[in-house]
Amino acid sequence: MKKLGILLSGRGSNFRAIFDAIQSGFIKNAKIEVVISNKADAQGLKFAKDNKLNAIFLNPKDFFSRSEYDRKLVEILKNYSVDLVCLAGFMRIVGEEVVNAFENKILNIHPSLLPSFPGLNAQRQALEYGVKITGCTVHFVDTKVDHGPIVLQAAVEVKEDDTVETLSNRILSYEHKIYPYAVKLFVEGKLRVLGRKVQILH
Ligand code: GRF
Repeated sequence: MKKLGILLSGRGSNFRAIFDAIQSGFIKNAKIEVVISNKADAQGLKFAKDNKLNAIFLNPKDFFSRSEYDRKLVEILKNYSVDLVCLAGFMRIVGEEVVNAFENKILNIHPSLLPSFPGLNAQRQALEYGVKITGCTVHFVDTKVDHGPIVLQAAVEVKEDDTVETLSNRILSYEHKIYPYAVKLFVEGKLRVLGRKVQILH
C-alpha cells in the first residue's frame, strides 16, 4: 500500500480527482495518508476533513523562514511514512529540504505544456502569447520551479473566443485525467527517471 501526501492551497479539484480515482479503484494499493495546506480556508482542506482524512493546516506565519517551514513539512510527511507527495495547487515553492528528502517522489501538475509558460497564470500567459495549443503537464519536482522531469502531458486547443476562465476550465478537465493517471503509474512502480526523461514501463 503506497501512502500519498497531498499539499494544496485552495480549491483542491486535482486532489479530489486523485481521491475519486482511489475510491473507484482506478488507482489501486494507495491511500491518501495526509493532506496539508498553507491556507486555513482552503476548500481542499475542508474536503479532506469532511472525508475523515488527516488534514493539517501548516501556517507559514508560525515559522521564521521558508527552510524552517519546509523542515516541518518533511517531518510531517515522514511521520506519516508518505511514499509520494502530490502538489495539487500548492501555491508555495517547495525548497531543497523537501526536494532532497523526497527525491523523484514529488509530483506537480501545471496548467501549460512545459517548458512553455512556467510560473503563475499559465493559462493567461498562453492566451496573451497567442498559442493555438496549450495543455497541462505532470512532472517530478526538482529545485527549479515547474522544471523537473515530465511524466505526462495533454494538449488542449485554444479557441478564438477563449477567456482565461473558459481556457482554464478546458485545461482543468484534462488535469483531472492525467494527474490520477500519473499517480497510478507511480504507485504501480512504472515510472523510471533517467536524467530529464521519465520512462514509462509497460
Ligand atoms: C491547477 O490549475 C493546477 O494546474 C495548478 O493549480 C491549480 C489548482 O487547482 N497547479 P485545484 O486546487 O486542483 O482545483
